[in-house]
Amino acid sequence: VQQEKVNTDIVTLTRFLTEEQAKHPEATGDFTLLCHALQFAFKSIAYYIRRATLINLTGLAGSSNTTGDDQKKLDVIGNDVFVSAMRGSGKCRILVSEEEEDAILFNESPNARYGVVCDPIDGSSNLDAGVSVGTIFGVFKLPGSVLGPENTISPNDILLPGTELVASGFTMYGASAQLVITMRGGSVNGFTMDNALGEFILTHPDMRLPSKRAIYSVNEGNTMYWDEWVKAYLDKLKFPPEGEKPYSSRYIGSMVADAYRTLLYGGIFAYPSDKKSPKGKLRILYECAPMAMVFENAGGLAVDSRMERLLSVVPAHIHDRSGVFLGSKDEVQKVIDTYNEFQ
Ligand code: AHG
Ligand code: MN
Ligand code: MN
Ligand code: MN
Repeated sequence: VQQEKVNTDIVTLTRFLTEEQAKHPEATGDFTLLCHALQFAFKSIAYYIRRATLINLTGLAGSSNTTGDDQKKLDVIGNDVFVSAMRGSGKCRILVSEEEEDAILFNESPNARYGVVCDPIDGSSNLDAGVSVGTIFGVFKLPGSVLGPENTISPNDILLPGTELVASGFTMYGASAQLVITMRGGSVNGFTMDNALGEFILTHPDMRLPSKRAIYSVNEGNTMYWDEWVKAYLDKLKFPPEGEKPYSSRYIGSMVADAYRTLLYGGIFAYPSDKKSPKGKLRILYECAPMAMVFENAGGLAVDSRMERLLSVVPAHIHDRSGVFLGSKDEVQKVIDTYNEFQ
């Protein structure tokens, strides 16, 4: 029998972070420690999701969050895990979560330099069906002026545009747990959880989005609420000129899963603002901006419903929403071109 070739030099997330830190001699190691805490939150959430049906964690919690969503039991647990991990890291000064009405200030860590935004479980309406969900996160480095015991940080200090993110990414708890992470100005790297080792392993180094692909991902059930230009854009994809093939439709209903597929295969993911949700559905700080950073760093584009670069949008409130179009360069350009035709 031929012996299996064993790779004894694998890059774990921990190793990857250590190597990243070494590239920045000025780094204090705080960011690396914060990432270790994030990593623990992802592992824990993945674990509870996998066991949900066995330990009665399916179904509603009986409460709703600020943005009006009915909370699932796992939304609450995922949030609690995330909040504890960030508090315990000692490196997080302020945290915004979809499931928390107000920003949480960790006053026990007055010198912590990071602000974190998170959607603990994205796609939670899919939880009970065992469909892929994930966690979205973004990390801001706070200005020195808000730090130290003598200075007061205000919840408004985290109302920043995505261009100020130093890192962002998301996980997808699917057939395996995947983690996608990117740093400011850097590449996008994908990791796969090896359950036996309990480690995220670098399996998708330097992810690059194909420049085009005939796949669109949108909730078509909202068609009657869409603006005319959105209808026209999607009709173009479905009814191409004679001799060309129409686009394929894929919509999971978990942004993390739809985005992960789009990142790998290319195409477009959209949740436009419409007559039902004039400001859009997805939330700027912890859904749109982190995803936009991943897509741009992977060579794609991300714009809102007025064709503004999503990363430049400054939210006025922590739970503000936006329309979103993200995907392959050529596909987003098609969106922009159609929008412009209608102005
Ligand atoms: P969340 O589960 O964090 O509240 O986010 C839900 C989001 C996102 O995952 C998905 O893309 C979108 O809502 C789906 O919305 P529809 O059910 O309206 O299609
Ligand atoms: Mn929700
Ligand atoms: Mn979400
Ligand atoms: Mn959520």
